Amino acid sequence: MKILVATEKPFAGAAVNGIREIVEGAGHELALLEKYTEKEQLLAAVADADALIVRSDKVTAEVVEAAKQLKIVVRAGAGYDNVDLNACTAKHVVVENTPGQNSNAVAELAIGLMIYMSRNQFTPGTGCELSDKTIGIQGFGNIGQLVAKKAVALGMNVLIFTNEIKEKHNRWNTTFSLQKLYSTCDFISVNIPATPFTKNSVNYDLISAMPKGGCIINTARKEIICEDGLEQALAERPDLKYATDIAPVRYAEMKEKFGKQIYATPKKQGAETAEANMNAGLAAANQIVNYFATGCTKFQVNK
Ligand code: 3PG
Repeated sequence: MKILVATEKPFAGAAVNGIREIVEGAGHELALLEKYTEKEQLLAAVADADALIVRSDKVTAEVVEAAKQLKIVVRAGAGYDNVDLNACTAKHVVVENTPGQNSNAVAELAIGLMIYMSRNQFTPGTGCELSDKTIGIQGFGNIGQLVAKKAVALGMNVLIFTNEIKEKHNRWNTTFSLQKLYSTCDFISVNIPATPFTKNSVNYDLISAMPKGGCIINTARKEIICEDGLEQALAERPDLKYATDIAPVRYAEMKEKFGKQIYATPKKQGAETAEANMNAGLAAANQIVNYFATGCTKFQVNK
């Protein structure tokens, strides 16, 4: 089988070597398409691929249509909003993700952004400490749980927003009310996937309900935040702050207007660590090899 790794933002070299060992060791062929700039390059590369490993690369209906032999796509990472699930399902293509494999890298970035914002983006001026502040964790999956543990280690109080009732949540202060989360927490860490239900869900009412000096850290997806609402809240409340790993559409304009109230990483770097690349890349390769060997679809997301 031909397994294509198509990554506009490539994995670290060691992760690619590891993927190659797994793929070739199982008797398959590895093809690499890295740092591509045009959609046409991806369309050509997938034409004879039986399996596809991607990161945030867009697997659209057009890509699926061009990939005549495609049997499985693995998104090496958590969020699979970049893959057209309906198009894959219609062509009987299995879609999987690699949950948890890059969570620690993202959680560490969330903490880093929180420190960066509370210290005036490392520019002169008096900042604030995280100890004794309260962080609200919006979404208690693999990343949210790690952010919570790291926040406790920093001396923070933690409030979890979750709509699941699970025993593992018992030792945490939890709320089912987003309004309560936003109105009582000094920091919010957004750790939910982008779905039709979550898109634009962090709106003006929630953002402007934050206490004085409130700061939102978004390492999830830009679509979750209502950009108009964010802009209005930042304009009305110069004490509010927003830091994100995925720049809003109007970031340049907003940066100009709001200065140190806002920050976006130049390119999404939540999962940009050697460890996360290795974990997610190798997991993706193993899942594909396993699928071809045994039909295992444990991590399928389009069942
Ligand atoms: C994810 O959903 O796993 C993260 O957003 C990582 O995305 P990336 O692989 O494009 O860095």
